[in-house]
Amino acid sequence: MKIAFAAAVVFACLALAPGARADEPIVIKFSHVVAPDTPKGKAAEKFKELAEERTHGRVKVEVYPNSQLYKDKEELEALQLGAVQMLAPSVSKFGPLGIKEFEVFDLPYIFPSVAALRRVSDGPIGKELFKKLEPKGIIGLGYWDNGFSVITSNKPLRTLADFKGMKMRIQSSKVLEATYKHLGALPQVMAFSEVYQALQTGVVDGGENTPSNVYTQKFYEVQKYLTVSDHTYIGYALIVNKKFWEGLPPDIRTILDGAAKDATTYCNSIAEQENAEAMAKIKAAGTVEFITLTPEQKAEWRKGLLPVHEEMASRIGKDLIQAIYKETGASTTQ
Ligand code: LMR
Repeated sequence: MKIAFAAAVVFACLALAPGARADEPIVIKFSHVVAPDTPKGKAAEKFKELAEERTHGRVKVEVYPNSQLYKDKEELEALQLGAVQMLAPSVSKFGPLGIKEFEVFDLPYIFPSVAALRRVSDGPIGKELFKKLEPKGIIGLGYWDNGFSVITSNKPLRTLADFKGMKMRIQSSKVLEATYKHLGALPQVMAFSEVYQALQTGVVDGGENTPSNVYTQKFYEVQKYLTVSDHTYIGYALIVNKKFWEGLPPDIRTILDGAAKDATTYCNSIAEQENAEAMAKIKAAGTVEFITLTPEQKAEWRKGLLPVHEEMASRIGKDLIQAIYKETGASTTQ
């Protein structure tokens, strides 16, 4: 009797383990909130292509773009519950999970270039940050680029004083909140899928995002101005449910790890071009007036926003900020 029950339990566990039934593919639901023709949208499809090809169909990846399955906050909960297996959320959105350190990526002007960012994300700092995901049942597989932000608005934003009283949409990051409060603006956290309508109806006056998102979500259709400020960066963490990942057959996990690495390289190789093309298309549409900050104006913005670094040091961690300064060459003194 005991032997029969033990056999039944083992069988049940085997039946539940991913890929236990050889005739059925292991299914990966990959949910995200942006459009398919974006760096993240294309990289998710690239991961699907590589994972299915290299496992000869033992893995099936279902990509759900445009918040089809879940909005920002819900998708992280769904990942932790195992309702979906993979995501690539903006690193600005881990605060609500209790992981504040990722908000260091939102500090204004902390990254002077993509190369500087890469030294952080692909170096020891990036790895250390990924370790903070594991207690939440999440494993980080790679850092995916989008790009530096522009600001769209319904009134011209040339100086920091122009932000006073502006209702600005932000991602769920306390650093972004502090940045806009520092400017006397009224920051409003909002799910990405709700932004277009909020801009159209005037619930908010503006928001920051990459040209790729501004173009593919048509924000430029419902805004009058676009300020090229490069003051923050939007990037993603490719993440997987820990239990799912560790439950995979080892050979499959190795292949998927390789596919994730190659999709990461692919994403980071197309991101800048995707944003340059989006910027050109927004310009060609002629619906927004472009305000490109001069180097002097950018220096003014940088000087005016750097106090946010000090202000958020206790939340993010002074040592982490200092470590990033060391890697990027940025600092609050210059
Ligand atoms: C946003 O919420 O504005 C972005 O994080 C969306 C995205 O994933 O690029």
